[in-house]
Amino acid sequence: MGKLTVFGYLCEQWAELPIPNADVSDQSLIVVGANVGLGYEAAVHLAQLKPKSLLITSRDEIKCEKSKADVEARSGMSAIECWPLELCSFDSVRSFVDNFEAKGCTANALIANAGISTLQYTTTPDGYETTFQVNYLSTALLSLLMLPHLIKAGTPERASRLVIVSSEFHFLANRLKGADKWPSIIETINDKAYCTSSVMLNRYSLTKLLEVMFARELSSRLATPTLVAVSTVNPGSCHSRLTRDIESNPLFKFLVKTYKGLVARTTEMGSRTLVHAAIELDERERHGHYLSSCEIAEVSDYTLSAEGREVSKRLWHETLQILGDIDPRVNTIVSEHLTQTIA
Ligand SMILES: NC(=O)c1ccc[n+]([C@@H]2O[C@H](COP(=O)([O-])OP(=O)(O)OC[C@H]3O[C@@H](n4cnc5c(N)ncnc54)[C@H](OP(=O)(O)O)[C@@H]3O)[C@@H](O)[C@H]2O)c1
Repeated sequence: MGKLTVFGYLCEQWAELPIPNADVSDQSLIVVGANVGLGYEAAVHLAQLKPKSLLITSRDEIKCEKSKADVEARSGMSAIECWPLELCSFDSVRSFVDNFEAKGCTANALIANAGISTLQYTTTPDGYETTFQVNYLSTALLSLLMLPHLIKAGTPERASRLVIVSSEFHFLANRLKGADKWPSIIETINDKAYCTSSVMLNRYSLTKLLEVMFARELSSRLATPTLVAVSTVNPGSCHSRLTRDIESNPLFKFLVKTYKGLVARTTEMGSRTLVHAAIELDERERHGHYLSSCEIAEVSDYTLSAEGREVSKRLWHETLQILGDIDPRVNTIVSEHLTQTIA
């Protein structure tokens, strides 16, 4: 069963991870959220391997220009594309995919990396709690809308990859107790009254659990052998800007800095886990799995429990209902590419 132990955690944090070096010369790769942190370092790794094409995203045009220039300068690869993608907006996700389709692009791997961690309750223009939309709903929408493109690029010899960047923090998610009595899981966890400050303390962990559940549900519904291998990745605790918002509180800043000073990996080291899942071979073995330190690892006990599996199944259906209303392509993709197999 999946347990997070202090010893296991520390051993992983201090382990040296393999530098990815697969041949990607015929691969078209996408990294979401590549202006800083793990996404940026992953993009540099990928660019250094000279893929056929590399498309990275940042939130807006200005960040895009800078990200493109930075990754090109660090890697020596020219002609990297950077497109804006703002996960606080479903329209932005849909525009990204529209643009992708209009330009006839291909995708062998999508690293859904962008994410936030905040203790503040705020909502997006679409009306969802921000962490929930950015880390979960928009990531799920992007994954589903890009699925046909990943499937199209996959071959029996080499499946495409959908890599969703989750976290070991999914083990700490503790806000779904009693969900069996909620008429709607998503409506409940998105409700302002539910999002008290103690709930927001656990919000990031919850969204990382939801990503694990989504990826397990999705992978279980793809045909076998799959043309797209789906995995979630734990990059480990890294020195990134993820905690920037939390660090606006001096006490939290002190705690985070101390904790990171003792155990955090560099973002470069952590980014190897994303790149590994996106390009190294044996992807079918990893399909449907949660990866930690580039190895298959157990998900949390809660995810595997009868209660967790039931929540996961309901969440999948609720998610599809919401996303299908936002973009009808989701319904077509589900009926054309996914079976009704139960996870
Ligand atoms: N660092 C860790 O210790 C750690 C551990 C486990 C998992 N992770 C996961 O790793 C992923 C990357 O995190 P990181 O540590 O590299 O953090 P980071 O340095 O803060 O980078 C996060 C990336 O996501 C982007 N992003 C945030 N909100 C967005 C939005 N609304 N729309 C589009 N892009 C948005 C950021 O863009 P802006 O700069 O414009 O905000 C940035 O490019 C996250 O999914 C995180 O949960 C991190």
